[in-house]
Formats: sequence, C-alpha cells, structure tokens
Amino acid sequence: MKVAVIGAGYVGLTTAACLAHLGHEVVCADLDESRVAKLNTGEIPILEEGMPAIVEEGLTSRRLRFVVGAANAAAGADCIFICVATPQGDDGAADMKYVEAAAREIAPVLAPGSVVINKSTMPVGSSRFVQRILDESGPALDRVTVASNPEFLREGQAVRDFLNPDRIVIGCDDPAAAVRVSELYSGLRAPVLVTDPASAEMIKYASNAFLATKISFINAIANLCEAVDADVREVALGMGYDRRIGFEFLKPGPGYGGSCFPKDSAALLHTAQVNGYSFDLLEGVIEVNRKQYEHMVNKITQGAGGSLNGAVIGVWGLTFKSDTDDLRDSPSMLISERLLNAGAIVQAYDPAGADKAKQMLPGLEIRTDAYDAATGADVVAVLTEWDEFRWLDFDRLRGLVSKPVIVDARNLLDPAAMRRRGFQYSGVGR
Ligand code: NAD
Ligand code: UGA
Repeated sequence: MKVAVIGAGYVGLTTAACLAHLGHEVVCADLDESRVAKLNTGEIPILEEGMPAIVEEGLTSRRLRFVVGAANAAAGADCIFICVATPQGDDGAADMKYVEAAAREIAPVLAPGSVVINKSTMPVGSSRFVQRILDESGPALDRVTVASNPEFLREGQAVRDFLNPDRIVIGCDDPAAAVRVSELYSGLRAPVLVTDPASAEMIKYASNAFLATKISFINAIANLCEAVDADVREVALGMGYDRRIGFEFLKPGPGYGGSCFPKDSAALLHTAQVNGYSFDLLEGVIEVNRKQYEHMVNKITQGAGGSLNGAVIGVWGLTFKSDTDDLRDSPSMLISERLLNAGAIVQAYDPAGADKAKQMLPGLEIRTDAYDAATGADVVAVLTEWDEFRWLDFDRLRGLVSKPVIVDARNLLDPAAMRRRGFQYSGVGR
C-alpha cells in the first residue's frame, strides 16, 4: 500500500521505517528540513536500537523516503498516519495544535477513499475532531475516513515493539476502512482489536495510566519498605509470581517520566474532569509520582549532610530512562534542577543526552564519564539505569569521591558490594 507518515519523531520514524520493512511504499514527512535531509542519507536523529539498519534497508529498497511538508507525503497515499506530538497544554489537556495543523495541510491533497490514521496519542473525540478539520479544509471528498490506531511502543526498543506488538487496536466506524488499516499490519503476528473510535482512544490512555499506576503503587510500597525494613525487590518478585499481577512495571525508582506517562495521565485526568468524573485514583498516582521526585531530592540532601548549598553532587544519567536520548520530563532533569536551585554543584554524565541536557539546564556541569562526574562529589546519585554504571571499578570510584555516599534511585548497584567498599549506600525501598 502507499503510505504517508506525518512526523518523523520517535513514533513517526518507527512507523515509517517498519511499514517499509513490511513491504509498503512509505513517504515520511517532517517540518524540519535538516532532519529530513539527514534521514534521506541514513543519518538517524534519535537513539533507537535497530533504527539505522531498518532505515538503511528502506532507503536502499526505495520503499522509504523522507520529504519536507505533510502535503508532499499525503498526495496519492492510500493511508496517511498522523504522528505529530500532542504535548500537555496549560490545563493538562492534550494540546492538539500540531494535529490540527497537520490535518489542515493534508486535507487539500487527500485522495478519495483514503484513510487518515490517528497514531499520535489523542483524547477521546479526536477522530471526530480530525474528520471535522478535514471536511472544513479540503474539497468535498468522497469518503475520506478517519481511524484511530494508537501506538504502544516504548522508546529504546521502538522497532522491536512495533514489529512485535502485544495487540493492534483500530478504532473506526467504517468496517471497510478498518480492514484496510489492519492490512497494513498483515505481516505481523498479533491480535487485532477493531472497535469504535472512542474506545480505541480510551484504550491508549487507560493502558498508559494503568502502567503509571503500577509504578506509583510499587514506589509507594518501596517507601513503606524503607520504613519497615523490608526489601521492595523481594516484595515485587513475590508479587510478580502471581500471574494476575506479573513482574512487569514493578521497578521502583525516582518516579516515572518521559514524554508520555506524565502528559497522558494529566490528559486523562482532564478528560475525567470535563466529564464530571472525579478520578481520585489517577490523582493519587500523579501525586505519588510527584512526591517520589521529592523523596529522591531528600535522600540526596540527607546524603550531603542535610544541606545542598555548596554540596557537590555527581549525577549519573540524565535521560528519562536508559537506552534513549530523550530528556522530556526526565526525573533526573527535574531532580537536577531542584539540586541546582538549592545551591548544589551538579556534575552530570549521561551517555546519550548530555549535550541537549546542558542546553535545557545550563547550570549543569557536564562531565565526560561516570568517574569524572563523581570526582570530588559529596554524593553520587544514580538517576538513570544505564547498564555501564553497573560495571565500574568501584574501588577506583572510592578514591575519587570527596565523601563515599551513593544514592541509587534505580536500585542498579549491589548494596552489600558498595558497603564492603566503604560507601554509605541508599537505594529505593531496601
Ligand atoms: P516527536 O516530538 O518525537 O515527533 C513529532 C515530529 O512531528 C517532530 O519531528 C515534528 O517536527 C513533526 N511535525 C510536527 N508537525 C508537523 C507537520 N505539520 N508536518 C510534518 N511534521 C510535523 O513526538 P513522538 O515522541 O514521536 O510522539 C508523537 C505522538 O505519539 C505523541 O502523541 C505521543 O504521545 C505518541 N506516542 C509516543 C510514544 C513514544 O514513545 N515517544 C509512544 C507511543 C505514542
Ligand atoms: C511508555 C509505555 O511503556 C508505552 O507502551 C507507550 O507506548 C509509551 O509510553 C507512550 O505512550 O509514549 P516509554 O515512555 O518509552 O513508554 O517508557 P517506559 O519504558 O514505559 O518508561 C516510562 C517511565 O516509567 C520511565 O521513566 C521509566 O524509568 C519508568 N518505569 C518504568 C519505572 O519507574 N518502573 C518500571 O517498572 C517501569
């Protein structure tokens, strides 16, 4: 099929490259000219495992190309994916301005019978919203249908997740259009759930909110474990063996972050509010998450002897999780900002996000590696779970720090091994 993808970010680029891999002819559009130029030479603007190879494959086979401008991709396409950002607005709701702009751009060139597919995370009612924009902005077209097809990939493993989905959700009132969307994925083995647009849109928000709930729940249990001297890792293991609970998303940490859980939980709360439902559970999830950042700042403050003013903090990891370069709503960045505001000197190292982090938080002192970040530190704070932090020479580290204090917000290190080397070690919930 001829496919257009609007937006060449984490979701758009993955969608475009993977659909080309599955045999479709894909044109992917972005506004950013330099991003498009780089992509056409195989240069990948984000850190994503497997992306360089799959983009290269698409370019070589000529099934994948990149253009500037949504209309240039959408003209002549059978299916047009909208994959632009839907950031959090001031009132918590998803800001639909990029979606609206993309829909207005493509409307005049859409072919009769084509399907516009909302893949960005959009609130309930967005299929109707996009349909209305298309109707307003394009010629009176015969049967351009809008379908919701939310995406469930995780950053860092986007290609793998896209090609091995747990499910494919298609929300569309027109059965023929739903079949066409499902045919795009015929090379994949996954259950396909065809439903109405509102339910598809709600499935996406409910899934993210549920995962966020698991994380806040285990963070709350972790904090309680600290009070009663239990080990949250043992607790999560013991819970996870119950197949109704499972092992996934029970890792305690500094609170969830990233470009999705925080904004999507806020947007779902907003949907509840405007519909007169008081979603106390979700409010609690968000509040527990906010307090978890504070909890980490408090641990670091205690580690520094009670005051951050003038304290040197070695921060390991700035991205919102490992294996991505994404800093959006990163717990580490939020915590680092708090440390800086309290007068600390923050020496940070991150394998993928350091340059952008410096632009976002100019007060950070960016260091070349984990040892460099820890040199002269009063506290070393492990804020992102990059694997390389596990395999350091901790005897060497002991000689570099000013005070041997580690706050491990990811439970990445072995407490006994750290204490043997003379470190005062504080993890999460153990
Ligand atoms: P992103 O910011 O990485 O990418 C969006 C891209 O769209 C940018 O490159 C931007 O330049 C481009 N763009 C904006 N307007 C455009 C237009 N009119 N024409 C062409 N290009 C345009 O965003 P993302 O992380 O890929 O997220 C996109 C959507 O997918 C969001 O709704 C998000 O919630 C959802 N989502 C994201 C993930 C994820 O892991 N990042 C996973 C599932 C769903
Ligand atoms: C998340 C979802 O997992 C995807 O299914 C979804 O498509 C995506 O959001 C989205 O809608 O954009 P992602 O944000 O890439 O994907 O990252 P996750 O791996 O889910 O992690 C999110 C945050 O939760 C990170 O800060 C991570 O460190 C934290 N987390 C995750 C925990 O603290 N504990 C866990 O057990 C799991």
